Amino acid sequence: MRLRALADTEISLSAVGLGCWAMGGEAWGPVDASQAIRTIHAALDGGVNWLDTAPLYGGSDAIIARALRGRAAIIATKVGARLEGRNACSDLSAAHIIADCEASLRRLSVETIDLLQVHWPCERGTPLSESFAALTTLQDAGKIRAIGVCNYGPEALAEIRTIAPVVSLQTPYSLVRRELEGPLRAAASGMSVLVYEALCRGLLTGKYTTPPRFPAHDIRSRDPRFSGVHFEAITRLAVDLGRVGARIGTSAAAVALGWAASRPGVTAVIAGMRTPAQVADNLAAARLLSRHKLWSVVDRIVARHGL
Ligand SMILES: NC(=O)c1ccc[n+]([C@@H]2O[C@H](COP(=O)([O-])OP(=O)(O)OC[C@H]3O[C@@H](n4cnc5c(N)ncnc54)[C@H](OP(=O)(O)O)[C@@H]3O)[C@@H](O)[C@H]2O)c1
Repeated sequence: MRLRALADTEISLSAVGLGCWAMGGEAWGPVDASQAIRTIHAALDGGVNWLDTAPLYGGSDAIIARALRGRAAIIATKVGARLEGRNACSDLSAAHIIADCEASLRRLSVETIDLLQVHWPCERGTPLSESFAALTTLQDAGKIRAIGVCNYGPEALAEIRTIAPVVSLQTPYSLVRRELEGPLRAAASGMSVLVYEALCRGLLTGKYTTPPRFPAHDIRSRDPRFSGVHFEAITRLAVDLGRVGARIGTSAAAVALGWAASRPGVTAVIAGMRTPAQVADNLAAARLLSRHKLWSVVDRIVARHGL
């Protein structure tokens, strides 16, 4: 597994990281804790060296803490977002940032968080200066090693970079989701970019032939890409990715992840994985990273699909 530097730090991240949202039991259906722990171990055994989690993900921190007894991994978590009733909102007041980070340290059973990322922009009107001063205080106190952000646009990102030593941006990016290729990529220049949704929440694995039905609390039940014309278009692309993968002895999922991890400016891709079998499938992406001709083929296929 290739390691890549987390900008301006001594931390190196595997090109594929393990996203733990679906292990939390809140938004992706029920979780089998022992299977989740086996999944984390399979990922670490396969060369993944970092896990992405968040307070909002429910039980994922507790599962990570159990899985990492006697094992090491870099932990990237988040700060700010919390549930108010059934709705999540971002509170980036200094008081909430400090309390949220302390709670994460306790749940994860660690003394230091390697990368603490603002989950999404504040919805409470707190000035950026207050929020990022709190994060810098946590860093100075040794509670976090590095500060990152998620889901910011180019203008806010540029402003944040003038007030705090932010090393990473986490943002969606996939064969079917390209916002990163606009002004955001320039705004993030010099930072590490960690991308999620490279599998389009599972659609790009090619496993769906008809639109799946999820219970109402599952985020995929409200995702327009899981029905209608979006579903048809993405699954047609996934079929072609599967064909390309089959020619080189790998899967559509590995092709989709390998493509994202190979794109200019991308430091690492965060893949959600629920089972050791998905880990084995997805980590094949690590062997594709230098296959430049493969990415030209994939780009032509995507263009042919008009996506
Ligand atoms: N910062 C943010 O705001 C933010 C937002 C979203 C996600 N994230 C991070 O990104 C991680 C991944 O989430 P995502 O939304 O980007 O999902 P994703 O990686 O695009 O898709 C993950 C899901 O696809 C299915 N899957 C994965 N590999 C598969 C395989 N080989 N074969 C068949 N199915 C497979 C699994 O779900 P099933 O088995 O249920 O089908 C898995 O949970 C999260 O855990 C989180 O760490 C961050």
